[in-house]
Amino acid sequence: MAKLVLLTLLGASLAFVGERWLAFRSSFGAVRELEPVEPQTCVLVEGLENGSEDIDILPSGLAFISNGLKYPGMPNFAPDEPGKIFLMDMNEQNPRAQELEISNGFEKESFNPHGISTFIDKDHTVYLYVVNHPHMKSTVEVFKFEEQQRSLVHLKTIKHELLKSVNDIVVLGPEQFYATRDHYFTNHVLALLEMFLDLHWTYVLFYSPKEVKVVAEGFSSANGITVSPDKKYVYVADVTAKNVHVMEKHDNWDLTELKVIHLGTLVDNLSVDPATGDILAGCHPNGMKLLNYNPEDPPGSEVLRIQNVLSEKPRVSTVYTNNGSVLQGSTVAPVYQGKILIGTIFHKTLYCVL
Ligand SMILES: *[C@@H]1O[C@H](CO)[C@@H](O)[C@H](O)[C@H]1NC(C)=O
Ligand SMILES: *[C@@H]1O[C@H](CO)[C@@H](O)[C@H](O)[C@H]1NC(C)=O
Ligand SMILES: *[C@@H]1O[C@H](CO)[C@@H](O)[C@H](O)[C@H]1NC(C)=O
Repeated sequence: MAKLVLLTLLGASLAFVGERWLAFRSSFGAVRELEPVEPQTCVLVEGLENGSEDIDILPSGLAFISNGLKYPGMPNFAPDEPGKIFLMDMNEQNPRAQELEISNGFEKESFNPHGISTFIDKDHTVYLYVVNHPHMKSTVEVFKFEEQQRSLVHLKTIKHELLKSVNDIVVLGPEQFYATRDHYFTNHVLALLEMFLDLHWTYVLFYSPKEVKVVAEGFSSANGITVSPDKKYVYVADVTAKNVHVMEKHDNWDLTELKVIHLGTLVDNLSVDPATGDILAGCHPNGMKLLNYNPEDPPGSEVLRIQNVLSEKPRVSTVYTNNGSVLQGSTVAPVYQGKILIGTIFHKTLYCVL
């Protein structure tokens, strides 16, 4: 009898593992042929060839770019270089990226920037919030931007026990932000198992000095987060579920889900076109090629635009696709006055006129 139970359990677990493997393969493995799509004029940005994971553009056209992310399981071409923040002026004819000086008193050697978000206060001071992974932990660093000096002055490090495996952040008030947690487990092996079992244990967190709480949960891997131009809606990318959640924001900062837009591709980071309210999504068309990096057969890039986000039928169109010959592993694609900047996890950065 005991043997029969054991055998049944074994059979059931094998069937479960097999089923999960097939689901995982279809999520990450399915290799899509990529028809190239490219706006008319595109140029690679000089000096930004080892990653530009996150980009946030100010209303003035100044773009902040985080560079040099070290993330378990992802390639990195310059593993010994600490992370950096670059600045680019989208108003220039041929914009160039310039590294921002970071004030003393901040540990630059272990700087590992991930998601970033800017905040402008009533006095027009610009703050840059950066998700940082020093020694593979998660903190949020607050910098003040000194435009004249082209530098960042470090003001503070925010830590909290709920701020773990943080991916992205969107700041909505002084020290008030939403952040996504992309894995439940901080241990790399357990995190892989979590992804394999598709546990949906990740969440969106609200942080303020007075209150920290989980405001939305049940994501497979919550990744990019951003806010609508009227600040009423929050958009969350669930990368492994390949969709975007449209959430309504309430006065107490709680979020309720309005709808889910399925994109059928691994959605990384989101930006909103300030002129139209469209969502621009940086996506990974071939997840397995990203996890198993091979320069001979590299992962490609894909940028999608979602129009009429709040309507019955949002329209999804392709802005950019490339098989990796030009750009690999796109993460983010903010637009500014008819121009787009496409960032990547570990590869180059592309600037295009739309
Ligand atoms: C990118 O990384 C490669 C390999 O480490 C290095 O040779 C190159 O100088 C780096 N480029 C930049 C712009 O940092
Ligand atoms: C995604 O992009 C938005 C807008 O550019 C930015 O605020 C956010 O921090 C980004 N996050 C990541 C993880 O790339
Ligand atoms: C990618 O596309 C280019 C042309 O668009 C082609 O020359 C190249 O062979 C393709 N590479 C792969 C790996 O499919």
